[in-house]
Amino acid sequence: MSEEVAKLVLDGKTFELPVVTGTEGEKAIDITQLRAKTGYITLDSGYKNTGSTKSAITFLDGEKGILRYRGYPIEQLAENANFLEVAYLLIYGKLPNKQEFEAFNKSITNHTLVQEDIKHFLEAYPSKAHPMGVLAAAVSTLATFYPESQEENRTTEAINLTIHRLIAKMITLVAWTKKNKMRMPLMYPNNKFGYVENFLYMMFALPTEEYTPNPVVVKALHKLLILHADHEQNCSASTVRIVGSSHASLYASISAGISALWGPLHGGANQAVIEMLEAIKNDGGDVKKWVDKAKDKNDPFRLMGFGHRVYKNFDPRAKIIKKACDDVLAQLGINDPILDIAKQLEEVALNDPYFVERKLYPNVDFYSGIIYRAIGIPTEMFTVMFALGRLPGWIAQWKEMRENNEPIGRPRQIYVGETERDFVPMDKRS
Ligand code: CMC
Repeated sequence: MSEEVAKLVLDGKTFELPVVTGTEGEKAIDITQLRAKTGYITLDSGYKNTGSTKSAITFLDGEKGILRYRGYPIEQLAENANFLEVAYLLIYGKLPNKQEFEAFNKSITNHTLVQEDIKHFLEAYPSKAHPMGVLAAAVSTLATFYPESQEENRTTEAINLTIHRLIAKMITLVAWTKKNKMRMPLMYPNNKFGYVENFLYMMFALPTEEYTPNPVVVKALHKLLILHADHEQNCSASTVRIVGSSHASLYASISAGISALWGPLHGGANQAVIEMLEAIKNDGGDVKKWVDKAKDKNDPFRLMGFGHRVYKNFDPRAKIIKKACDDVLAQLGINDPILDIAKQLEEVALNDPYFVERKLYPNVDFYSGIIYRAIGIPTEMFTVMFALGRLPGWIAQWKEMRENNEPIGRPRQIYVGETERDFVPMDKRS
């Protein structure tokens, strides 16, 4: 515990608040006792200055463009690790050795099948249903198939089983969501494949044809999923933690995280980026016109895939994805005009004072959609792909919150509504 304190002067009285320092030197003023001692609360809309927890999972430094999972730089993980290895790292805090990985991989592989009844749920959705809505519902539904997941005081073994089930079934649910939307036959998991290959198989194979996953696509997908795997206390992770803090089941908490991710300011941006690039292309490709639109305060349009709450210099994930995007398209022999538009847009925006002054840079979502498109993933499924990647991070956040015995999340507010007034009968109201 540091000796450092912050002094707060209120109504002529000085209060001392402890300063907490993280392992990377980040500092926080601990206000746990603030209300009890002073009667005041803090006000921080959007939690821009509020640390909601101490966490040992992910470190990021937005000024320096650093992102590390459990201490390992994202660049090294994206280059060298596979997705399940990173999932293990995030959830259990260490890179698995060979034996640990094999046991984890085996357990995940063994649980990929989902109950047949789930198919009835899927069939009930109209084909226009957005896959994120279907996925959130399907994951929440898992809690009803495994009611024991809601019990209190579960053993470590039982919690691990729930975690492994969820990771395993997620690929099946995602792939079935896509196939069902297209009203195509669902493919059952083929457990001769690894996690990513099995996912691609269920997404793209047809019962009438042999399917061999393309190694270029497999590699690209591992990388994309790793880059999305965690991002500390963002909107969806905070949602997972806050829902889980009521001791709701893991499935219910993750389902809430999926819903939070859906919005275009968060994970939904990857779909919005491609739709924006398409719109620019169809509008004649005048990139400057769209940059001007984004700058116009009377126009609600924003450059999707630009800006970030935390990164103020560059998003390290975007750097890796931009390069991967070039590589994957070249290796697959795809020439996507959207990529040219994206590059032009980036160039114009990065040299425009509006974006420079506000430190707005391409984020993880700016180029990811171009890779998903090249792989053959429908645009409406992009945010679902983000959810698939983010799953281990959400699980790690949920697990850490429960293991730390964190209290139920319940912020305060400053009430600014009417003060007390008397009820007026309807016939006397103006
Ligand atoms: N286009 C145009 N102007 C922008 C943009 C943008 N994409 N992003 C921010 N600004 C402006 C904003 O209007 C404001 O200007 P001013 O100071 O004149 O009022 C200033 O920059 C600061 O923006 P903010 O909305 O206060 O910043 P924030 O930290 O609350 O929001 C953000 C961060 C990501 C929601 C926002 O940058 C945004 O809406 N970006 C587009 C959506 C997007 O790409 N989201 C994906 C984020 S990365 C994936 C993830 O992890 O979720």
